[in-house]
Amino acid sequence: MDRKLTIMYFSPTDTTKKIVYAIAKGMGDDYVETVNLTDPQARSLNYSFQRDEIIIVGIPVYGGRIPGFLTPVLEKIKGEGTQAIFVAVYGNRAYEDALLELKNTLEENGFVGIAAGAFIGEHSYTKKLAAGRPDVQDIETAERFGREISEKIKGKITGNVTIKGDFPYKERKPAVPMAPDTSESCIQCGICAKYCPMEAISFSDAKKTDPSKCIRCSSCVKRCPQKAKAFHHEAFNKITEWLIENYSQVRCEPEWFI
Ligand SMILES: Cc1cc2nc3c(=O)[nH]c(=O)nc-3n(C[C@H](O)[C@H](O)[C@H](O)COP(=O)(O)O)c2cc1C
Repeated sequence: MDRKLTIMYFSPTDTTKKIVYAIAKGMGDDYVETVNLTDPQARSLNYSFQRDEIIIVGIPVYGGRIPGFLTPVLEKIKGEGTQAIFVAVYGNRAYEDALLELKNTLEENGFVGIAAGAFIGEHSYTKKLAAGRPDVQDIETAERFGREISEKIKGKITGNVTIKGDFPYKERKPAVPMAPDTSESCIQCGICAKYCPMEAISFSDAKKTDPSKCIRCSSCVKRCPQKAKAFHHEAFNKITEWLIENYSQVRCEPEWFI
């Protein structure tokens, strides 16, 4: 392909990132730019895209929706009839209205959806749901999806992809403020603070996290080389137990719409 492809994603624990990169690889583009919206600074910028560009936008599913704080960020991304591929990555429970919400939000801003996919990533809360995913099989599926997108583009077929999801979207439940606890094994290496997408962890004391900023993305928990971070909040434990009981047995498979 000779057009500029932009891969744009929010991905605190890297599963969404792996999927969008695999899709781009399948598309076989050689002129690729990336925008990592996990970085707060990248979210503060404005983005606009021309008609002859193409964009992949990937987000993790939070509560069956796009992460709430990302809505205003996505709303300021402007297209001009720019072709877009929408990607939602979820933790083996359900993606519900997230993909539709992503599509609607960007199509209202001048993008034309040509394909959309829901993929599975290890659940942010527990390894008991989708451990190690995306796995080799998921990555191959994502690359195959990319190749199909590329065929669609070559065939000059455009627009009007129909995807799953309901409107009005699933109601967002107010989040209980919480933050992970840090054990004595913390060595203050600062990796957690550096990668926290919400700048919720103090750079001077990595044991301090602002519960009003924390979105429970688990980036700090999963990245800590000392395994010093964990959520012990009652509400967190309750949700995690419910997830394990109901969604750890069946393997969800990727779905795509093209
Ligand atoms: C606050 C929150 C809410 C979540 N809600 C859902 C959900 O509704 N359905 C689901 O299957 N997974 C859910 N997950 C799991 C993530 O969608 C999943 O782990 C995803 O792979 C994380 O993407 P990332 O690696 O790009 O951060 C949730 C995770 C978090 C942190």
